[in-house]
Amino acid sequence: MNIVLFGPPGCGKGTQAKRLQANTGLVQLSTGDMLRAAIASGSEIGNRVKDIMAEGKLVDDETVIAMLSERIDAPDCDKGFILDGFPRTLAQAEALDALLKGKELEINAVVEMTVNDEALIERISGRYSCGNCGAGYHDTFKKPETEGVCDECGGKDFDRRADDNADSVRIRLDAYRNQSAPLLPYYRERGKLIAVNGMAEMDEVEKEIKAVIKTA
Ligand code: AP5
Repeated sequence: MNIVLFGPPGCGKGTQAKRLQANTGLVQLSTGDMLRAAIASGSEIGNRVKDIMAEGKLVDDETVIAMLSERIDAPDCDKGFILDGFPRTLAQAEALDALLKGKELEINAVVEMTVNDEALIERISGRYSCGNCGAGYHDTFKKPETEGVCDECGGKDFDRRADDNADSVRIRLDAYRNQSAPLLPYYRERGKLIAVNGMAEMDEVEKEIKAVIKTA
């Protein structure tokens, strides 16, 4: 089973991909996380994409496709994967189809998570994560049980993303509308697209996605 979680920045792709990974065995493949890891490591790719990501623009297709292709070859992907943040352009979707065809695999379902703009901005502006283990939190929707202490690892340092500011969020939403949303008809025509209500609470969204996976 291979699925794509699709939707605008802040709709909950990463939150749901982590939940599904934890209880379905499918592997989360987040191109955003891969690119942030490249930046943190100071690699050539990381240095090249750092400012582009902070501004909220999309990284070039060639870089992202190469990164994803390499990751999909790892043995842990054999049991199935959840794509989080990929594909984001028509060129990426076509490259993904070609890549999977060569492995006699396919995308079973593309789950569109629908969330209105007001909620997206509220979710993004309140988001932070543990600087040690990466566990995600939100000022309103998901606070640590003990204030200032990570539930997962006990860490006390928290980070906010460089692109979670008002200017970058505007550019990210534009990139979604202009470059990514045109993929919706691409997957609808292929009978792969299923929408879930991303405005619901996290547990409810998870249930809906699991129901989609069962029938895909
Ligand atoms: P990426 O890391 O993919 O970011 P994004 O798509 O902008 O999505 P986000 O991570 O912001 O949001 P999300 O949907 O995962 O929401 P989350 O679960 O965190 O990409 C970042 C950048 O990398 C891009 O701008 C681009 O530069 C580059 N990039 C990456 N992939 C690329 C590609 N394929 N091509 C080119 N460039 C690429 O949730 C957000 C918050 O809301 C959290 O705090 C969470 O707790 C909360 N929340 C989640 N669900 C709910 C809910 N149901 N109710 C209430 N709160 C909720």
